[in-house]
Parts: sequence; structure tokens; C-alpha cells
Amino acid sequence: MANKSTSSKGSTVTAETPAVAATKGKICPIVKYGDPVLEKPAATITEFDTELGQLVEDMFASMYAANGVGLAAPQIGKSIRLAVVDVTLGKNPEAKIVLVNPEIIHAEGEVREEEGCLSVPGFRGYVVRPQFVTVRAQNAKGETFEIRGENLLARAFCHEIDHLHGILFLTHLSMLKRDLIKRKIKKLRKEGEW
Ligand code: NI
Repeated sequence: MANKSTSSKGSTVTAETPAVAATKGKICPIVKYGDPVLEKPAATITEFDTELGQLVEDMFASMYAANGVGLAAPQIGKSIRLAVVDVTLGKNPEAKIVLVNPEIIHAEGEVREEEGCLSVPGFRGYVVRPQFVTVRAQNAKGETFEIRGENLLARAFCHEIDHLHGILFLTHLSMLKRDLIKRKIKKLRKEGEW
């Protein structure tokens, strides 16, 4: 999921927090809308090895570099059920959340808010999401845990778990808005700018 301020404001946030944002991971290019990997269901993770641990670090590094508050593995071309979330943009190391094989087990309330996605850069739209969700997931070691999120965190959980089902936020927009964005992307692609 993309940060609210993707413009110059967003990079200021990163500049203020180099100590935390500098992880051991490598920055991977983010796959854009149009790549089939974004629209297919990702595979369940069964191996909790050092390779997965490294991938988690790469995901955080890639997310912070792009000023995102969430990133799903398909967005770096890996079709596996892994996502990372940090709604503090790296300001609080305690806020780093790793979701392996996550599922929403409870949802409550509704909030309509603007949303974006690192794989659909430059476009935003209003999406209704639950106000509260409870997610059951595994961590990078394979241990099961539950976490509750409210508002932006709940939204980020829903957005990233959608990615693992091959669903983009565009799906939740009005048909009019979705078609408008798709037309603009088509044009950008023709111009070689997507
Ligand atoms: Ni996204």
C-alpha cells in the first residue's frame, strides 16, 4: 500500500528516519499493474528458512525506499503469501509487522478512505474497508499469532491480504473510476512511461 503523501512530503519522512529505515535488505524493483503476477493467488509458505528471513528484510527495504506502509511479495515478483506492513514508515521499529500466510478472521465497521498502491503509482481512489480487523498469520519463524488493526492499519492489512489473493485496490473502486485509471495507464504504457 502506498503512503498518503507520495510526493516530496513523503521523502521528507524517510530523510528523518535513516537509522530505522536502513535495514539489511536489498531494494527490489516494484512490479507495476499489468504484470500477471499481481493478479494471481499467491502460494502458501511452508519453509521458514533463512531465505525467507532475507526476503522479509528485502521487503522492508523495498517498502521503505518506496515510502509505502505495506508491501506484498507478489509486488516484487514473488507469488508467495508474504506481506510486510509498517504504518509508521520506519519511524518505530516496534511497528514492523511480518505476515506469513495471513488471513482475516474478524472484521468490523466500515471506513471510506482514499487508498493507493505502490504497484499503481500516481493513482488513488476511495475504498471502503473495515474499521477493525483481526488477522491470524505466521511470523518468519512459522509461529502463529493474531493481531488487531484499526483504521489505517486495518486498511493496510486488508490491502496487502488482497494482494495475496491477486486482488488490487482498483477492484474496489467504482467502475467509472476504475475504467478512468485503466485508460490512463494504457496511455502511459503506449508512451513507454509505465
Ligand atoms: Ni498495493
